[in-house]
Amino acid sequence: MYDQMLIEKTKNFVNDELGRDGSGHDFFHSLRVWNNAKKIAKEENADIFIVELAALLHDVDDWKIISVQSDIPQKAKNFLINMKLSQENIDLICDIIKNIGFKEMLGGAKLESMEAKIVFDADKLDAIGAIGIARTFAFSGNKNMPIFNPELFPILDIDKKQYMNLNRKENTSVNHFFEKLLKLKENFYTNSAKKEAEKRHLFMINFLIQFFEEHEEKVWIKYLEEFLTKNKIKNF
Ligand code: ADP
Ligand code: NI
Repeated sequence: MYDQMLIEKTKNFVNDELGRDGSGHDFFHSLRVWNNAKKIAKEENADIFIVELAALLHDVDDWKIISVQSDIPQKAKNFLINMKLSQENIDLICDIIKNIGFKEMLGGAKLESMEAKIVFDADKLDAIGAIGIARTFAFSGNKNMPIFNPELFPILDIDKKQYMNLNRKENTSVNHFFEKLLKLKENFYTNSAKKEAEKRHLFMINFLIQFFEEHEEKVWIKYLEEFLTKNKIKNF
């Protein structure tokens, strides 16, 4: 049963946990994912209460933020236990949180439940477009990564282990676009998210072209064109 009070308490909890994050995973990222999820869910047949709670809580246990890797999103789980949510719903929400990360996608995971697909799409929409660009540079700054190194090309077939090694020397903000962000468009599940992703994707491409033009990096413009063709990504 939908419980508005619990949604409000969850927002407060997430604000307490992520309010001071400076890596692009702050409280407002969670709020945006929550809003995206509510919009997407309107067009789908899903349990909206589960979707909303999972969207709000999806990053409080993220490995990139709290430097703990665990199979269980422990903080979210403890919060929901304290809130006396049913065991069945807690399991559903924890399962979603565990499976929607990009590293799981690299590991070949395919999502089954509509609730998980919606939260995945909602989170990944916030990783692309203007907001995605802003978050990527915030994240990189937070991890002391350079913006761009013309000599260092992305790892195109990046695997889960390489993706999770944030200290590898090939890591630059711009490379993250090729290693993750430009690939996302083809991996959305729901129709409404796919439609919005087209727009955001095109904005990122235009940003990269302008970026490389300002750098007078013809080689990288060609690299981008070839990348999009090779990966059959439309919209250039
Ligand atoms: P995930 O998709 O793994 O669940 P989130 O959606 O919570 O992750 O946030 C990931 C965001 O953090 C990325 O979209 C990007 O903006 C930033 N980020 C993650 N890894 C890197 C990286 N190696 N370089 C630059 N930005 C990164
Ligand atoms: Ni997120």
